[in-house]
Amino acid sequence: MSMTERHKKLERNITLLAVAALVTVAIGGIVEIVPLFWIDNTVEKVEGMRPYSPLEQAGRDIYIREGCYACHSQMIRPFRDEVERYGHYSLSAESMYDHPFQWGSKRTGPDLARVGGRYSDQWHVQHLKNPQSVVPQSVMPQYGFLADTDLDTNYIDEKLVALQRVGVPYTSKDIADALIDLKAQADPNADASDLLKRYPKAQHRDFDGNPNRLTEMDALVAYLQMLGTLVDVNAPAAQEQLASEHEPKGERK
Ligand code: HEC
Repeated sequence: MSMTERHKKLERNITLLAVAALVTVAIGGIVEIVPLFWIDNTVEKVEGMRPYSPLEQAGRDIYIREGCYACHSQMIRPFRDEVERYGHYSLSAESMYDHPFQWGSKRTGPDLARVGGRYSDQWHVQHLKNPQSVVPQSVMPQYGFLADTDLDTNYIDEKLVALQRVGVPYTSKDIADALIDLKAQADPNADASDLLKRYPKAQHRDFDGNPNRLTEMDALVAYLQMLGTLVDVNAPAAQEQLASEHEPKGERK
């Protein structure tokens, strides 16, 4: 039987064709998926990236609760217009502790991946209370109630435990001290040396302009001010990761 005849047979027998197609597609799938079982991690570690401090994580939970992601992404794509507007494009390692991640391409407002340090705390508080007082044509809703709502700290250690279960490397000390760490970060009079040892670059101050109260505004602003500040994208280690992520395939040294 010639090759063409064999092929004719295959094409005219629906069952045979389906089985053959399935086998072919399965081989492709196996080739793609199986190597993932033998590598420890698909994301290379990069200097500076660390799990979020309890206060930052609490702020992140408010960010998600309030649906900020409906209008804001946290992923700067490697395109010139985005890099010029938002800063260095995002590295995969920068979202390695995000559960859930905040990537996306739907932006009603700007990308926030590197918003940390771009504005003062005071600007953020004013903007969150009344965006239109800062940007008159803004369609962003007002979140003034965050400054009047005490931060619920009841479950902060359980939150870290849940994140630990999905792979965020919180230590047992991080979990045991979660509440102390959280309060210390937002209290300018507290000793934050232990917090900073475990969460380098954690910003330590009152964030909402009201040092007498720990509010949801404190947590949210602490989170926003951290975004994009942990990894020094110009450091040699990060440059190495950038090179390996974006070098054309086959030319890797
Ligand atoms: C309905 C869409 C919408 C939602 C929801 C929304 N925003 Fe915005 N946001 C915008 C728009 C539009 C702008 C640009 C105009 C302005 O600065 O107000 C903006 C701007 C910002 C900026 C300034 C960014 C920059 O680089 O100038 C920050 C920070 C911000 N939003 C944070 C938040 C947070 C935090 C939440 C959730 C509590 C939120 N936004 C919810 C639409 C939204």
